[in-house]
Amino acid sequence: MAKTKHTLSVNIPEMDSQHEELYDAVIALKQSSSCVEDLGHIIDAVDAHFKAEEALFEEYKIPNVITHRSEHNRFLATLRKKHAELAARHEAKEDLSEEIRLLVETGIRWLDIHTKAYDAPQYGTFFKEGQYIGN
Ligand SMILES: [Fe+2]
Ligand SMILES: [Fe+2]
Repeated sequence: MAKTKHTLSVNIPEMDSQHEELYDAVIALKQSSSCVEDLGHIIDAVDAHFKAEEALFEEYKIPNVITHRSEHNRFLATLRKKHAELAARHEAKEDLSEEIRLLVETGIRWLDIHTKAYDAPQYGTFFKEGQYIGN
């Protein structure tokens, strides 16, 4: 069995650990003294994670992934916009703590809902302990 602490298992250990790493990285933003820089790294990790999932869609011909892909794109676009906005406000020496608190909250909620509503039911059902079991 794949080990997940915070996110629902999608039956692929590598994807489960990516979800856990994203979860931990988002939570760590709360304590970070370099939030803007860290958010940039999180965005890169989110991008890499989505690419890994989308490669699975291709490799195993996972059906009905159009909305799933657009959810990925939409979330990345939102994160990039937020990153640019926070970078500008950081430059202007604004206090970002409330913004970061909200961002962590929304980020965690997105990860939770997306994993439950898209990842697990959509591609997770085609796998067992990392092995493709077909449909
Ligand atoms: Fe995912
Ligand atoms: Fe996904």
